[in-house]
Amino acid sequence: MLIARTLVELRQHLQRFERPAFVPTMGNLHEGHLTLLRHAKTLGDLSVASIFVNRLQFLPHEDFDSYPRTWAGDCAKLEAEGCDLLFAPDEAELYPQIQTFKVQPDPVLADILEGQFRPGFFTGVSTVVMKLFMAVFAGKAKGVAVFGKKDYQQLMVIRQMVRQFALPIEISGVDTCRAPDGLALSSRNGYLSGDERAEAVQLSMALSQLGLAALATGAALPSQLPLLEAEAMQTLRQRGWQPDYLTVRRRQDLQAPQAGDAMVVLGAAKLGKTRLIDNLEV
Ligand code: PAF
Repeated sequence: MLIARTLVELRQHLQRFERPAFVPTMGNLHEGHLTLLRHAKTLGDLSVASIFVNRLQFLPHEDFDSYPRTWAGDCAKLEAEGCDLLFAPDEAELYPQIQTFKVQPDPVLADILEGQFRPGFFTGVSTVVMKLFMAVFAGKAKGVAVFGKKDYQQLMVIRQMVRQFALPIEISGVDTCRAPDGLALSSRNGYLSGDERAEAVQLSMALSQLGLAALATGAALPSQLPLLEAEAMQTLRQRGWQPDYLTVRRRQDLQAPQAGDAMVVLGAAKLGKTRLIDNLEV
């Protein structure tokens, strides 16, 4: 695996290739990331991963400083999966000046759910993803980038960004990887204590129950949904969680669904100090 630390090195390595398949990450890699990479390897003529912990997408009280940096382990995992090229810039390389130009996503999509509880999060994500896309895909007629559906809203924001800026990049979404008990794999699962890890699956169980209850309401969905969502949040609260939201939305735009819409159930909740997110298409 080649490793590029600078934009110049990255572009040199990319020169001979026409269709890079790119997996952006913040490192601390787990099976979910490796699944994205395996998928990427089927899509392009060069698999490229990046590791960059993006300060712009963390709020001041969040875990930017303590976010696990596991460089040696990450490199070994990528190497074992046959990753061709790893781009791992430091902050001075990607943000040589304070990044005052930002990519501002549509607030209708980006200021709800995660964006409501983490203001500015999707501006930080969109800005770094645009920079990484420019770095990896500049001069390429067509590229492909792979994102996990675990970050459902992020995937939608990136798709909209690519569409609206007419970037010649295909975005491929990959299903969430889960532990045998159903917990969605996440870099932040490592923060959980033993007891919390055993409890953590309750988030996906609550989402699944909420989804089934929503489907069962039929035409009464719009009037029944607030009650069902409040009950789901209360169930988690009683188990010691602090939920931010558990909600059913239509897949198309994450707005409130009408009966018959294709739906997705999304949730975010804190267990102890760890904030987990998950979603299920229903
Ligand atoms: O999903 C992530 O790991 C990050 O949000 C991303 C896309 C790598 C941007 O920093």
